[in-house]
Amino acid sequence: MKINVAIDGPSGAGKSTVAKELCKRFGFVHLDTGSMYRAVAYTGLKKGLKMDEEDKIEEMIQNMDLKILSDGTVLVNGENITPYLRTDEISMGASDVSKLLKVRKALVQMQQKIAEGGGYIMDGRDICSVVLPDAEVKVFLTASSEERAQRRFLENVQRGMEADYPTILEDIKKRDYQDSHRANSPLMKTDDAVEIDSTNMTMDEVIDAVSDLVTKASL
Ligand code: DC
Repeated sequence: MKINVAIDGPSGAGKSTVAKELCKRFGFVHLDTGSMYRAVAYTGLKKGLKMDEEDKIEEMIQNMDLKILSDGTVLVNGENITPYLRTDEISMGASDVSKLLKVRKALVQMQQKIAEGGGYIMDGRDICSVVLPDAEVKVFLTASSEERAQRRFLENVQRGMEADYPTILEDIKKRDYQDSHRANSPLMKTDDAVEIDSTNMTMDEVIDAVSDLVTKASL
């Protein structure tokens, strides 16, 4: 059976970049679980739901055909909603909706089913602790909030998007706080996860460090 890799960490730590490169090197399939919370927030907001209406959102998830393709494309009832998921509104909505126990239960169940056969690299906030506690490789990838805000700022500039460093930093801090202080599955490092602080590392160095862990776990 193929191994699974779990990567947790705050937003902007580079989880997706590392996961994508590891897929190329080792043939894993990447599942960005954050995109599932984003899809729930987007669909709920479009329906006019408030992000704390737990029962209504749970019912919506039960009736929603959510598919994440291997290239990261997100389909809801056959519609490609990927381009709408990276706005500030959806980032905060996803963080809000991810506090709800019924939402977490529904999405965790889907994620566990997807990774059943192994060969997945999954990133999120609760992958090491809840979704894949038996993953062969567990990483907690972090960086200072200032460094993560700087990376997001440059990314936005490169994409021609609006970019204001103080606002980005404030949003990152707000989401960090909310994601790590919620009652249900808060973001945290498990004892068995290897912590990589990428503040003073290049992405290539981070990718090599995680690759080494995968190679060792595959021996
Ligand atoms: O990784 P991301 O920034 O796309 O995630 C969006 C939000 O979803 C994040 O603020 C917290 C939540 N999330 C979560 O609670 N558990 C996960 N496994 C993934 C994301």
